[in-house]
This record gives sequence, structure tokens and C-alpha cells, in this order.
Amino acid sequence: MSTLVNRPKGDAPTAHAELFTPLRVGGGLSLSNRLAVAPMTRVSATADGHATKQMADYYEAFAAGGFGLVITEGLYTDKAHAQGYLFQPGLADDAQRDAWRPVVDRVHAHGGRIVAQLMHAGALSQGNPHRITTKGPSAVLPTGQQLAFYRGEGPYRMPEAMSADDICEAVEGFAQAARRAQEAGFDGVEIHGANGYLLDQFLTAHTNLREDRYGGSLANRLRLTGDVIQAVRRSTTERFVVGVRISQGKVNDFTHKWEGGEADAAQIFGALGALPIDYLHTTEFEAWRPAFGEHGPSLAALARRHVAVPVLANGSLHDATQADGVVARQEADFVSLGRGALMHADWPARLRAGKVHKTFDRGLLAPIADLANAVRHRAEVHLAVAGAPALNR
Ligand SMILES: Cc1cc2nc3c(=O)[nH]c(=O)nc-3n(C[C@H](O)[C@H](O)[C@H](O)COP(=O)(O)O)c2cc1C
Repeated sequence: MSTLVNRPKGDAPTAHAELFTPLRVGGGLSLSNRLAVAPMTRVSATADGHATKQMADYYEAFAAGGFGLVITEGLYTDKAHAQGYLFQPGLADDAQRDAWRPVVDRVHAHGGRIVAQLMHAGALSQGNPHRITTKGPSAVLPTGQQLAFYRGEGPYRMPEAMSADDICEAVEGFAQAARRAQEAGFDGVEIHGANGYLLDQFLTAHTNLREDRYGGSLANRLRLTGDVIQAVRRSTTERFVVGVRISQGKVNDFTHKWEGGEADAAQIFGALGALPIDYLHTTEFEAWRPAFGEHGPSLAALARRHVAVPVLANGSLHDATQADGVVARQEADFVSLGRGALMHADWPARLRAGKVHKTFDRGLLAPIADLANAVRHRAEVHLAVAGAPALNR
């Protein structure tokens, strides 16, 4: 259950005060406010998946700017089929673990908390130096095209169906990556069950045609997520926070909806709520909109009906009034920002100070969504605003 701690005495109520109250998550995580940075892949690690000094600067800025929680980009979990993108960071060996230590320390130095998102790309892997083939629940060609801003081109590869051994290897990858996350000093992990990656491929009927215990019924299709959660729990200590992220949409199919509507939501969230998780992260395009059709509860609100742990809502909540509303109406306990945080690493501090939040600038992610491009783009915009000639490309 979320624990709402009273605002300290003498702290005058401010606009959006709801977002600036502390929150306790699980046994081990005390957040100073309700504002989290959403996980965002930035393909800025070294070629062998090590976090860099530039990444430490990037993550530190969010904590310095007032976010109570930073969730890292999706980190690949094994050196078999997990990696999705070239220059994606990992937690698949001890050297990768050690590269995260300075990042964690710099977030902690500002009183921020940091959770590592653990990700297996499955059939959506488009850049994996460890393997030529891709693997997923079944040999079903993913819809859509590889993501160009992560250096992909053309259609996805046809994946091979995972064997029982492949499934064990993937589960073990999550467990060992979680152990390394704890060793590196992270406050927790978030298991990436959303956005069309491996765990979501198992959950989704049209990408999972299996006839074993991992396919068929919704309960069977959720089994792998449950196995991963249990294995992660076993490989970490009790107070280490374990969250899970769930969505309807996918990076290769934005508008996908769960076929069974609210009945599916009840079953999915009910099953997740019965597992040993500390928070549930839902993501939709606009977090406050009805999850199904024109009316009815949002996905976060549905989650909150069925789970006792805090719900983290995501989706266009850089609109502070909507963010406030989602928390005030108790649809969610805390909110995560993606684009808002990219635009302003100090988004919470700006809100408190009553400063303007600018509209998201897509140039920050184009043509490649890495940190070097964002730095270059900011410099160009700054020079253009100052009336100086634009930098040569
Ligand atoms: C550049 C970029 C990278 C992303 N990478 C991830 C990721 O690694 N893991 C994940 O779960 N979601 C990822 N997302 C989705 C975001 O976490 C978030 O759900 C999305 O940006 C919508 O939230 P917003 O409206 O606050 O931007 C990414 C989004 C962006 C813009």
C-alpha cells in the first residue's frame, strides 16, 4: 500500500502540492515527491554496453532538478538475445555493473532514488552484437519497421520461437541482472513488461502462438512475467524494490488495445497484484484518458483497483494539471515523465518556482536519440536564438 506522509509542518501549500508529498514504495524506497523520470533508451553507452561519464551527467541532472525517482533506460539482461539496440547499456556482466556505480552515486548525492529498468527486446531486437538471430515467443514477423532513431532500417527480422531452454536463459538473465543492479547500489529494478518487448510479446495473443504452458490462455501468456518477477525476487534481498511496467501500446504498434477490454485489465492486474511486486507502472499515450472506448476508467485507475501497491502513471503528464489530477483523484500514486524530463531535467524545480515548461522539441531525438545529438541540438538552438550562425552539420 502507498503511504502518504504528511507535508512537513511549516511548509506552505504550493500549487501542485499534491505532487510534492513524499511516498514510500515497498520496504526500502522513500521518495521525496511523486515525480519520476520515465525510462528512456538513449543508445549512448559504449559499444560493449558500459554507462559513460556523459550518461552520469545526464542522469544526475534529473536528481539535481528535483525528480524524486529516476528510472533508467531499458538495460539488456543477458548476452544472448536480450539486447535491442546498438549502444544500449546493459547489466549483463560485472563490468557493466561497475560502470553503473558512479551514475547511481551521483543520483543519490542529490537525495534522488534510482531504479534500473531491465529489458529483453525479444523479437524487436534490431541491434545485438551477441547474436545474428532474434528470438520471441513464436515465429511471427513483428509489425512495423525498425526504429530509425536507434539506427534501425527496414522491417524487423523473423524471430525464432524460443525453446524451453531459451526461456530459462531469459529468466535467469533478468535474475542475474537484478542481482547486479543491487550490487551496483540501485534502489530497485523495474521489469519491462510493456511496449512490445519480450514479456509483452508473450502477453499478446497475436505474437504468442505457443501451445505449451506459456501460450494460450491469458494466465499462460502472463506466466513468463510471473516467472521473471519470482526469479528477480529470489536473486535480490527483501527490501530491494521490484516494479513492473505494463502497457497496451507497443513501439511497433502504438494503438494496440487489449482485446478483452476491462475484463482483460482485471485479469492482468489481478494476476500482477498477486505477485510480489512493490509498484506497478502503467503507460498510455494520455494517462488520464479512458483505457477502452470513450468513457470509463484510465488504465492507471484500473490498475489501482486491482493492486495494493503504488501505481505509477505515465503518458503526457508533463501537463502539470493533468499530473496533479491523476494523483489527486487517486488514479495513481505517482507519475513519470518522459518528454517533459527530456525537455527540462529540472521540470519539478521549475514547477515549484512557477517557471514555464516549454513544449517538447523533437530535435532532441533526431536523427539519432542519443545524448550527443541532444547536446548538439541544444547548442544549435541556443546559437540560433542568440542570432549567431547555425553550426555546420
Ligand atoms: C527517447 C525515448 C526512449 C524511450 N525508451 C524507453 C525505454 O527504454 N523503456 C520504456 O519502458 N519506455 C521507453 N520510452 C517510453 C517512455 O518511458 C514514456 O512511456 C513515453 O515517452 C511517454 O511518456 P511522456 O508522454 O511523458 O513522454 C521511451 C520514450 C522516449 C521518448
